[in-house]
Amino acid sequence: MEHPTKIIKGAKSQLLKDKKIALCVTGSVAAIGTPKISRELIRNGAEVFGVMSSAAQKIIHPDTLEFGTGNPVVTELTGKLEYIQLTEGQSKVDFVLVAPATANTISKIACGIYDTPVTCIALTALGSKIPVAIAPAMHISLYENSILKANIEKLKSIGVKFIEPKVEEGTAKLAPMETIVNFVIKELHHQKDLSGKKVLVMAGPTVEHVDPIRTITNKSSGKMGISIAEEAAARGGRATLVYGPGAQKPPEYMRVINVVTTREMNDAVIAELKPNKYDIVVGAAAVADFFVENPSSLKLDSSREHTVVLKPLPKIIKKIKEDFPNIFVVGFKAEFQVTDEDLIASAYYCMKDTNVDLIVANDVGRTGCHFGSDTDEVFIIGPNKKVVHVPLTSKREIAKKIFDIVVERLK
Ligand SMILES: Cc1cc2nc3c(=O)[nH]c(=O)nc-3n(C[C@H](O)[C@H](O)[C@H](O)COP(=O)(O)O)c2cc1C
Repeated sequence: MEHPTKIIKGAKSQLLKDKKIALCVTGSVAAIGTPKISRELIRNGAEVFGVMSSAAQKIIHPDTLEFGTGNPVVTELTGKLEYIQLTEGQSKVDFVLVAPATANTISKIACGIYDTPVTCIALTALGSKIPVAIAPAMHISLYENSILKANIEKLKSIGVKFIEPKVEEGTAKLAPMETIVNFVIKELHHQKDLSGKKVLVMAGPTVEHVDPIRTITNKSSGKMGISIAEEAAARGGRATLVYGPGAQKPPEYMRVINVVTTREMNDAVIAELKPNKYDIVVGAAAVADFFVENPSSLKLDSSREHTVVLKPLPKIIKKIKEDFPNIFVVGFKAEFQVTDEDLIASAYYCMKDTNVDLIVANDVGRTGCHFGSDTDEVFIIGPNKKVVHVPLTSKREIAKKIFDIVVERLK
């Protein structure tokens, strides 16, 4: 009978489809977050097996992790040789993730001490060439201890990957859930078809000033552009994000150039493209297409009426194609509550006008497609109006479809 908690709401992607992950939990307070990490891995298609040290079981009960994984949890080593089962044969896992990892467990793995279910599985995985990633969490005095540092370096030198903690408030805090899950996706993504390619992604909204404190902007969250940059990185590309002030936080590992106005975004992109040989640019930012003529340098008097004149701005993607014709440029065109035919026609017109190589059209007025949503429905339009319809799905899946087409076109 299938485990009742295997039914999980809110599937995000199939990027971890058919991937088995051992989620190893050790005795840090951050262990209370691991069921959530597990659920997020499952939402991306993975099968998760929980493994706990005795100290971890004092922080969260194994039942909670069983609920979070939908599988029985390994809590002790028995005659069944659980660590061998998970690293060989039918139940062999594809990835071992230790999150959170205590100073104690990191040092034990570095010294080859097999005395808990977690150290046994991590060390057996290393011997079986199964990738191991460690996400430390501990007090700063432990993290900055030279013995632990040397042990981390030792593990890095034999290929163990570390998901860096966030050092704040005197603690090396476990990396955020999104960072950990993205890391796993990046490591397990077998399609490295953007390997060696440099990809620049424009994301988020831009903001234009009316006076020193008032602005015009839009509700773009940056989720689409960040998903595209994450997908590019997962496929082996070197992704840089030129990011307007969106609400979504880019992953820690990504190089980000922050901008505010459309002209800042334009200048930052051109300055970045000039000295570096980029292969692909994706213009997923929802730029304010206008600037305010003569913005006031003083705060506008709120007791009287004002007229704001909006002047159109040149399209950044058009400028890129003019200055760097060899770069493969993907544009985005958003419309509001139009028919499929009108959406495709308007995007195709934009594609011809800007000379971009591919354009992605979406209607932000449709259910599940509004600014800030996790999902979207798009039409990806190529030369000769060749249209690929991607029905409502996660933004990451859309990013995948876009790069599938880009990679084909670059062959
Ligand atoms: C409430 C509590 C919280 C702890 N948090 C941490 C922690 O965040 N990081 C750490 O390295 N050790 C932490 N410890 C200490 C470890 O639990 C201890 O070193 C234990 O032996 C680790 O065993 P394990 O690595 O096998 O899980 C904590 C202990 C307790 C009681």
